[in-house]
Amino acid sequence: MFGYRAYVDKHMDRLLRASDSRTLDRAEPAVVLGIHHEQQHQELILTNLKHAWAANPLHPVYREAVSEAAVPPRRAWLTFPPRLASIGHDGSGFAFDNELPRHQTWLHGFQLASRLATNAEYQGFVADGGYDRPEFWLSDGWAARQVQGWEAPLYWTEENGEWSMTTLAGPRLLCPSEPVCHVSYYEADAFARWAGARLPTEAEWEIASSDVPLGGHFLEAGRFHPAATTAADDPGPIYQLYGDVWQWTASPYAGYPGYAPLTGALGEYNGKFMCNQFVLRGASCVTPRGHTRLTYRNFFPPGRPLAVQRHPPCQGSRMIDAVRQRSTPPPSRRRWANSSRTCSAAWERRGRNCLASTSTTRTGRRCSMKSRR
Ligand SMILES: [Fe+2]
Repeated sequence: MFGYRAYVDKHMDRLLRASDSRTLDRAEPAVVLGIHHEQQHQELILTNLKHAWAANPLHPVYREAVSEAAVPPRRAWLTFPPRLASIGHDGSGFAFDNELPRHQTWLHGFQLASRLATNAEYQGFVADGGYDRPEFWLSDGWAARQVQGWEAPLYWTEENGEWSMTTLAGPRLLCPSEPVCHVSYYEADAFARWAGARLPTEAEWEIASSDVPLGGHFLEAGRFHPAATTAADDPGPIYQLYGDVWQWTASPYAGYPGYAPLTGALGEYNGKFMCNQFVLRGASCVTPRGHTRLTYRNFFPPGRPLAVQRHPPCQGSRMIDAVRQRSTPPPSRRRWANSSRTCSAAWERRGRNCLASTSTTRTGRRCSMKSRR
């Protein structure tokens, strides 16, 4: 792989040095697009590496974990009034063609969760029999769950009542305060439905994010794993819009009104994939910060890939963000309100570090979530 990279660098360097200005002007759009595409593949390499690690019984470690204590802020529901909104890239600086053109869309009023859904909240769904209750699932999602035997997010495993997950730092106990990740669209949708909410549309996500500075845990943080947010390092009131995990939206991946694919070979870049996929927004913990922007549209099929595909769209972690439709959470969700404290204690007794655990440890209580499944 490094040999191939050196080969490409060498020949690109030779091309750029030997070209006159007219040739450079002509080559620039493709070269810039190629650099951004390279970034997508670098993210994908780490994603696929994790997939390979998870299947390896020797539990390899790619990089040691970065320790970080965090107490996620309490989730609030932020209100956005009805409006005629404009979304999409405005044409200044680089953007993929699927982010264009900027256009108007009508938004009904909505309430958006102030932060990502956590592992603890998702465990509530698992413990409440969410994977065995078809009423929460789309028909296609339920069929996929049945055929593939899903009982929890990808990379989660249960042993003796305790949940663990694969990370690029090896397997470790599930950290309840981290954002849930590696859930398919079907799982994200079912979870949101169980919680009395739904996934946001990409227009809702973009409007909610439009005035928020680009911040979060990106590739440069060196974590290679999503982190819990803290009120200490983020003033809020809305958190985790970028970084950590790509966020599923309820929007099918299609061209914006007036969209036209690029001409020539570059026309195959995005337009040909606008079918049977859903849009994800934000970025992940393995996305370079400079690759991230408000109008970025990632996309992926709604199920889990049956195998690592040769060339899927860049896909980091996946997550849930919910738009509230009713005001009262179901009783089963309230049950796990303080779960992060109990799990932290369980980890400490096992001599492991919770990367995003709280300082409220040693409560002397076992995590009860896993044993209640
Ligand atoms: Fe590619």
